[in-house]
Amino acid sequence: MLGSRSLATPARQCLRQARQQQFTRLSFARSYAVAADDKVGKFKGTKGNDGKYTVSLIEGDGIGPEISQSVKDIFEAANVPIKWEPVDVTPRLKDGKTVIPDETIESISRNYVALKGPLATPVGKGHVSLNLTLRRTFNLFANLRPCKSIHGYKTPYDGVDTVLIRENTEGEYSGIEHVVVDGVVQSIKLITRQASERVLRFAFQYAQETGKNKVRAVHKATIMKMSDGLFLNTARELSKEFPNVEFDAELLDNTCLKVVTDPTPYNDKVLVMPNLYGDILSDMCAGLIGGLGLTPSGNIGDECSIFEAVHGSAPDIAGKGLANPTALLLSSIMMLQHMGLTTEASKIEKAIFDVLAEGKTITGDLGGSAKTHEYAAAVIKKLA
Ligand SMILES: NC(=O)c1ccc[n+]([C@@H]2O[C@H](COP(=O)([O-])OP(=O)(O)OC[C@H]3O[C@@H](n4cnc5c(N)ncnc54)[C@H](O)[C@@H]3O)[C@@H](O)[C@H]2O)c1
Repeated sequence: MLGSRSLATPARQCLRQARQQQFTRLSFARSYAVAADDKVGKFKGTKGNDGKYTVSLIEGDGIGPEISQSVKDIFEAANVPIKWEPVDVTPRLKDGKTVIPDETIESISRNYVALKGPLATPVGKGHVSLNLTLRRTFNLFANLRPCKSIHGYKTPYDGVDTVLIRENTEGEYSGIEHVVVDGVVQSIKLITRQASERVLRFAFQYAQETGKNKVRAVHKATIMKMSDGLFLNTARELSKEFPNVEFDAELLDNTCLKVVTDPTPYNDKVLVMPNLYGDILSDMCAGLIGGLGLTPSGNIGDECSIFEAVHGSAPDIAGKGLANPTALLLSSIMMLQHMGLTTEASKIEKAIFDVLAEGKTITGDLGGSAKTHEYAAAVIKKLA
């Protein structure tokens, strides 16, 4: 076994960095005291004098402006009490690091909530992923991904209604990697009790609120006994605070096998897991309902939360009026639910599902021929 004394200098530096990061997280976490009745990731925004909430809007690249326009039109027609504050996330270099503009950070911090269109990431050069930058800037610790079958869009699976919550800040994506010696690379999976507890508490509270009332932790503690073991033990401990929520755990490989065999037994559960497992399994669940084009998501933070579609900027169809705005619309519905605007959320959701079920005015990706604005107009008609 390699002791840290035998590591080359860069490796020692990386270990120091890892310990430093761990210390920073632990210090942060110590101040993260949560009373049992406090809601993790609670929306803190308030209405302005005009009776409306303000929401920061990142329209995004490629098809982003077109699908954002559909959301704006439908919200206006549904009289949703919010006004949009458009913000720019064009990256800037500050002290050699990619940062997003201060005005954007101020807007999201002030409003506590943002809706985000897709952002293009340059491959192999240029700025780092802005999605990652936003996640880090606002410490968006939980990624919430519900996947519900859509009537009118047939896939091999019917009646899917899964909810997956992924830890978003550490685990395998801590970014602590180094070359030990030429040809040997080490990557550190960082798991802390505090970050685990925060995302797990969010999962238990989400289960309680939505009436799913079962939480299942997905892990590989049989192999990663210490790291996943810590996540699992934290879940077991925390479950005692939620006697009304059933808790159990399942090995990741078993979950994958069972979900693709028959996803319906997962409909009454909230799945919660460390970062990498959540990244993979959430896309797998999206595949069950027809892919990323229909899948919404929410990135929940202590202070601010950002809701976004999980598909990309679709440069191949940008500007042609062919984009399907459903995923961003469903993300905006999650946002309304998070803000407590549940009546408006249900009304718009029903209109969307009715249009999709009818199948007359749907976009090309779903087998129809409607333009983006025609689909939005059909949803607006259903609101009446
Ligand atoms: N969350 C994000 O901001 C996010 C996520 C993924 C990719 N990206 C970025 O987007 C860019 C393009 O990535 P990509 O081509 O790999 O993936 P993509 O999701 O943009 O496109 C994949 C395919 O799906 C289609 N598609 C995607 N969304 C659609 C929609 N709403 N309606 C109809 N068709 C849709 C596209 O036309 C394309 O054929 C890259 O720069 C990538 O980094 C951003």
